[in-house]
Amino acid sequence: MEKIKLVVATHNRHKFEEIAALMPSGVELQPYWELSGEEIPETGDTLTENARQKSAYVRQHFSADCFADDTGLEVEALDGAPGVYSARYAGPGATYRDNVDKLLQAMAGVQDRRARFVTVISLWLHGREYLFEGSVEGTILESPQGEDGFGYDPVFRPQGCDRSFAQMTLEEKGRISHRARATEAMIAFLSEYLKNTHR
Ligand code: IMP
Repeated sequence: MEKIKLVVATHNRHKFEEIAALMPSGVELQPYWELSGEEIPETGDTLTENARQKSAYVRQHFSADCFADDTGLEVEALDGAPGVYSARYAGPGATYRDNVDKLLQAMAGVQDRRARFVTVISLWLHGREYLFEGSVEGTILESPQGEDGFGYDPVFRPQGCDRSFAQMTLEEKGRISHRARATEAMIAFLSEYLKNTHR
């Protein structure tokens, strides 16, 4: 059976690993960094704009079917910040640790610690674009917990769990995360697509 080949429009190895762990066998993934070392532009004001911009860039420059995800952490008490600016919350070139520190400072003494991760995926397949979304509700912890994962994982505890994302294995995070939910929506679509093209 013919496979669907997709470039994953990301520089982030953690993201690639999380997504690759969920993919069915009919889909072959290639990370963007195997194609180019050029930075993918990401200048939108919404997660959807960024996801679309990243996938469009890879499609145009490499004529490849591809997808991009854009993710933001939306904190209730901060009116949805850092949101689309999650990567550079503590300023341009901020490290994960800088962003987590800034978030914990902003949340010092705040009672309402509700937050959610949201992921939007833009997929280009055979000349058409498709969008998928996934989210997970949770709370911001008082201090970082755990060593695994990346980004804000050490300070985010998903609803109904007693550990942060950074205290979970790739498989555990992959059962409940925002990215897993968006990726599963895309996988359901791709599975149907594969079935229909091989009828
Ligand atoms: P991006 O623009 O989608 O690459 O993500 C923006 C920022 O959100 C990243 O730099 C991370 O700090 C954060 N982020 C994205 N996905 C996750 C995740 O799964 N866990 C924790 N933080 C994440």
